[in-house]
Amino acid sequence: MTSSDRNELLKRLEPFVHRLCFYLPKPAVEDAYDYLCSLTVRPSAARTLCPRRCPDLEPHRPVSGYGSRKARLVILGEAPGEAEDLVGYPFVGPSGLVLTAALRSLGVDREQVLITNVVRCRPPGNREPHPSEQKVCTEHLKNELTDLPQGLVVLTLGNVPLKFMRQSGTPGVTSCRGILLDSFRWQQSLVSAVIPTYHPSYVLRRMNRETIDLFVRDIREALGLALALRWPAFSSHFHESS
Ligand code: URA
Repeated sequence: MTSSDRNELLKRLEPFVHRLCFYLPKPAVEDAYDYLCSLTVRPSAARTLCPRRCPDLEPHRPVSGYGSRKARLVILGEAPGEAEDLVGYPFVGPSGLVLTAALRSLGVDREQVLITNVVRCRPPGNREPHPSEQKVCTEHLKNELTDLPQGLVVLTLGNVPLKFMRQSGTPGVTSCRGILLDSFRWQQSLVSAVIPTYHPSYVLRRMNRETIDLFVRDIREALGLALALRWPAFSSHFHESS
């Protein structure tokens, strides 16, 4: 990525910064913007080609999850977009600005949670990743989660990660956002609970008080639960009842 590509990407964020300040605290939005501006291209791993080579996914450069290795909250998106593909970190374009600002408004830095995606390579034209592509990437996600403490809370952003975690029969995010989907074990008990919320790109498209407030509320809920699961009494009760 050249520095003019980077400047172009950051320039595209500016209109969103101004609009978001109507709905989220200005310091949180500014912190989020500064954070995204501070990122340079992720070294090594993110820039190597994916050995799995899904035929349709270009340019086969995986964008791995990023955040704390002690995180109890995992924020799971769909797949990298243009900005992520260029910079090598998840959620660093306009959607990343909303997500980062919402976290900051709750006093949380991105580095305190793990932010990742169902699929690691950018689908052409930002289309939804095919089920076969999601399947190929499952092992990668599982490896990321295995490194974290047990009893994870996963906040799913939009329908793709929600359906990926819950499989068949799950209603869409508009009917179940903010609801704690417990009693669910994904990949050998790695995950204790799933909380669905909107995809930040939907939040950006709507850009109204109600949608942004619900989005922040869901994140707060997920953070609160992730914190509660650190306490053994609560945690064992939660596991027994699941
Ligand atoms: N949208 C996603 O779902 N993930 C990203 O990393 C960026 C945009």
